[in-house]
Amino acid sequence: MSEMTGELDGGQVGFFEENGYLTVPRITTVEELEGLRQIYDEIFTRRIGHDEDLYFDLAGSRDEEGKEVLPQMLAPEHKYPQLRGSVYWSNAMRIAEQLLGRSREELVITSDMILKPARYGRETPWHQDEAYWDPQYDFEGISIWMPLEDASVESGCMQFVAGSHRVRDVAWHRHIDDDPLVHGLMTDDVQPDNAVAYPLPAGGASIHHCRILHYAGPNLTDTPRRAYIFRALYQTRKRDVPAQRPWLDEEYEALARRAEER
Ligand code: NI
Repeated sequence: MSEMTGELDGGQVGFFEENGYLTVPRITTVEELEGLRQIYDEIFTRRIGHDEDLYFDLAGSRDEEGKEVLPQMLAPEHKYPQLRGSVYWSNAMRIAEQLLGRSREELVITSDMILKPARYGRETPWHQDEAYWDPQYDFEGISIWMPLEDASVESGCMQFVAGSHRVRDVAWHRHIDDDPLVHGLMTDDVQPDNAVAYPLPAGGASIHHCRILHYAGPNLTDTPRRAYIFRALYQTRKRDVPAQRPWLDEEYEALARRAEER
């Protein structure tokens, strides 16, 4: 990719189609990274969106107060609309249009932030992103994952099983700790021996397909691992029969019970 144009060359597009992921060394500017870190830290210090269930611990029970091991905020662009005007956003948008072969008007766009706190940030277990999505539809989609500081294997950079996006369907998933009040999902249907880890510099990005198996280790370092993720997707078809994803109902029902008890 030429420097930060958001334009991929044919070799990169081919690599993505074959492997289900791609990395780019730079997707935003140094100056912008500094501004993004400020927004990011404000969100996680003040737990912005907690009241609306936009902010929660991805790997911890919603019933547990205390140390958050993998806090996440969904759709921060609603509270911080300037994110949509960032260099990162516009480069990510162009990459998404190119890889998905759709114009931005045809894509559902959102973003989220996942923090792996220094020393105790928990692993993000193996999963496919589509396991979280509406089982009535099939999707095409990508996530563009940008760390705000250098990401290493020890701090929890992304890991992929190359080519694992070329499957007929989403694997069986369950909630982390088998607790439906934990939003995070995991699958046991993976051979991590085939995984490859991708350390990245701050402001670089890894791009992955919504069906690829991916993972990020715990943060064993003294530095937080802040990641900002852009997502673009579209529905390819309505299924004749909805996919079996009971983990989605389990969470929905657990949340409803919890709301009733309060
Ligand atoms: Ni994911």
